[in-house]
Parts: sequence; C-alpha cells; structure tokens
Amino acid sequence: MAFSIRTRLTFWYTALLFVSLLAFGAVFSYSLLKTFVYRMDNQIISIADMMVHSVIRPSGQIFIPKDFDIMLERHFGVRTAGSYIQVLEPHGNVIAKSSNLDFSLNVPPPTYRAAIDGATTYEVVKTVGKYPMRVVTKPIVLDGKLIAIVQVGSSFEGMDEIFHSLAFILIPGILASVVVAGAVGWFLARKALKPVTEITATARKITAENLDERIRSDVPQDELGRLAATMNEMIERLEKSFKQIRQFTGDASHELKTPLTILKGEIEMALRSKDDVRYMKEVLASSLEEIDRMSYIVKSLLDLAKMDVEKGALAKEPVRLDKVVSDRYEHLRKRAFDSAVQLDILENKPVTVLGDQVRLSQLVYNLIDNAIKYTHKGGRVELSLAQEGQTALFKVKDTGVGISAEDLPFIFDRFYRVDKARTREVGGAGLGLSICKEIAEAHGGTLSVVSQTGTGTTFTASFPSA
Ligand SMILES: Nc1ncnc2c1ncn2[C@@H]1O[C@H](COP(=O)(O)OP(=O)(O)O)[C@@H](O)[C@H]1O
Ligand SMILES: [Mg+2]
Repeated sequence: MAFSIRTRLTFWYTALLFVSLLAFGAVFSYSLLKTFVYRMDNQIISIADMMVHSVIRPSGQIFIPKDFDIMLERHFGVRTAGSYIQVLEPHGNVIAKSSNLDFSLNVPPPTYRAAIDGATTYEVVKTVGKYPMRVVTKPIVLDGKLIAIVQVGSSFEGMDEIFHSLAFILIPGILASVVVAGAVGWFLARKALKPVTEITATARKITAENLDERIRSDVPQDELGRLAATMNEMIERLEKSFKQIRQFTGDASHELKTPLTILKGEIEMALRSKDDVRYMKEVLASSLEEIDRMSYIVKSLLDLAKMDVEKGALAKEPVRLDKVVSDRYEHLRKRAFDSAVQLDILENKPVTVLGDQVRLSQLVYNLIDNAIKYTHKGGRVELSLAQEGQTALFKVKDTGVGISAEDLPFIFDRFYRVDKARTREVGGAGLGLSICKEIAEAHGGTLSVVSQTGTGTTFTASFPSA
C-alpha cells in the first residue's frame, strides 16, 4: 500500500521525535540515578568507616554497648538518620543492629566471602519492605584477622518518589510533544505540498484543446516552484508544436483543395460542352497539370513526414557530392536554357559526405530549381562546391528577384511563399526549402541564406565532409 508523501513525512519525523525524546528521557533518568547512587554510596561508606573505629577497643577487642542506638546517636548524631546499621561477628551472626532495622540484612554468600578476603562490597539488596536498599558490607580486619563485619544500608524510598514524579512529568510531556509535533507537521506538510496538488490538478485538466492553461505562478520559488516552471515551459512547447501541426494540416489541406477545385470546375465545364475534341484535349492537358501539382505536393508532404520519422536513422553512405552537383546540373541545364537563365558551375571540388544520396540530390536540385525559378530572363545562376577544413560548402548564387528582410526569417517554414499570386505560374507549394533544411540538418549540416531584393540570393549548404 502506498502512503502519501504527507503521511510518510509526518509519520517519520513524529517517530523520530518520539524515539529521540525517549532516548533523552532514558539517558537523563539513568544519569540521575547514577548520581543518587554515588551520593548514597558516599554516605553509607563514611558511616561504615566511622563504625569501624567506634566498635574497636584500643585493645583490639570488639565492644558493642548494650544500647546500640544511644551509641550511634552519640557518635554520629542525626547523620545516621535513614541509615540501617548492623554488626556481624566473623561467622556471620548478627551481634548488634540499629533499632530501625526490624529485620536482618542478609549477606549473600559471595559478599560474605569477599568480606572474609577483606574486600568491601556495594550492592542492592531486596528487603521485606517495599523498597530495595543500597548496602555496603565492610570487613573489620585487625592484624590480618577478620574480627567483625559492618553493614550500612540506605533505602531507595525517597528516590523512588523522585523517579515517580519524574516519570509523571516526562511521559505525558513526551507524548504531548509528539502529538503536537505530529499535528503541526501534518499541517506544515500539507502547506508545503500544496503546489504539488495544484500541479497535479492542472496537469490533469490539460488536453490538446486547452494547452493555454498554466500552473499558477504564485507557488514559491523553491524546488516545487521550479518544477511548476519547468512544467509550464513543457506545456508551452507542446502548445507551440500543436499550433504548428494545426497550421500545417490547414495549409496542406488548402494547398490540395485548390487544384482539386480547379480540376472539378474544368471537368464539369467539359462535360457540359459539345463534343469538341480539341477543347477536351485542352481540358485534359490542364487537368494533368493540376494533377502533377497535387502529386508534387503529396510527394513533398510524404518526404517531410518520412524525414520526421527517419530523423537520426538516415542512411550513412559515402556520397560524392561533386558528382551529385554535376548530375543535377546536367538535369537542370535545359530548364535554365528555356528560362533564358545562364547556369554555370564555378567550382566543383571532389568532396565526400556521409549520408543519403537521394536526399542530398533532392537538396541540390531544390536549391538550383528555386534559383532558376526566381531569376529573370538574362540572369545568372552560379554553383560552387568547395571544402573548408572539414566542411563541404555548396553554394547557389543567383541574380534573381531576391528576398526582402521581412520574408527572410520565414522562407524555411513549411508552405511559406513570398509571392503567393505568382506561385501558380512558376509552380511550387512552399515546401522545397523546408525539405532542404531538414535534409541539411539530418546530415549534421546547416542551410543558410543571404539575399537582397532586386540583386540576388545566395543559399549555402554546409556538411561535415567524410
Ligand atoms: N533563389 C531564390 N530567390 C528568391 N526567392 C526565393 C529563392 N528561393 C526561394 N525563394 C522564396 O522562398 C519561398 C519558399 O521556397 P520553397 O520552399 O522552395 O517553395 P517554392 O519553391 O515551392 O515556392 C519561395 O516561394 C520564394 O518566394
Ligand atoms: Mg522550391
């Protein structure tokens, strides 16, 4: 089961807080206990030490007065209050004990053995009472001989109370802190994660139809703010490409519809007319032109679509670009001659490019075709293929109509034509240059243009040479 980030965040830091508070409480209680025991030990050992001196006669005999309590009172005053004292003979039998001790402090065997060996032992001893006791067992040794054992005990009674009240403060305190921290954390997590909720809601709303939607920009400029901004940029790019696709589809349909309309009109007229063979032939010839036009557009569209698919998977064979240029030159020479345009090759260096022969040939053809098309009678078109370092440069320079600065940025766009009215005469659908650009870029190259209205245009295609 997947919990929300909010739940997990809250759970984890609440749990962490709980554990660290518990650890703090435990360490605190433990060191407090240690301090208490240390002080207790100091107190009982000092009494035990003094006892040793009080019960030994200068002769080395043990002397216990009849009234043990009075002796204690006289020797220690109130300092013995709360202490339980007993004296044992070397065999372990009790010879005297303070009157507050209404039971015998038992001496466990290991403690007794330690005493015989002359060692002092501190231990916690269970008593018949409610509270355990801290007891020190100290042997009295004279000239290497055990003559008695002194035991002094102190009850944990008072301390128990302190620890009870400590627990009474600590436990509810810890629980309350955890609950409050959990609640505040739950609230803060919601606040911090609110932009995510908004981003999700917006992303869910977005379809191709409302790509103008944006994630609200009032989210803070932190990680989530940047995420929102990045998503907005992504939506913007999507919006742009959708717009382009729509534009492209619209243009394509329009371009195909025009020749169809003309075809339909001409054929309808021909059907209505008398059986005039010459007229019929004229109509058929004109229809054929429109059909050619449509096939050209459809072929160009297919080329573009193919190149979109092919991107990155283009053939990579060595292609002699100079051979492509001379081949296309031969192919277009007649067209240039018919248009009274002088077509020349100024330079044709042997250059090899890695790529697709058919596509490269298409690029060369399109550029020369445009140059002839947009150059007046008596103009010139010059081709050159050169190598500069690792780059092959193919240039088509014409003395034609040129392109104005306003149109220049758009001529590589699909279906863009400068003079739409004229195009019907010279043919073309405004797809040639966009195809050329795609071809150049697919080969890792570029296509650029320099032009001046009335003076002429130069297109330069550059490729990395093999
Ligand atoms: N050599 C050139 N001289 C002047 N204008 C040109 C030249 N080449 C292209 N253009 C302009 O760029 C437009 C787009 O060219 P292109 O994509 O090849 O379409 P098309 O040739 O089908 O019209 C042309 O319509 C024309 O206006
Ligand atoms: Mg063209």
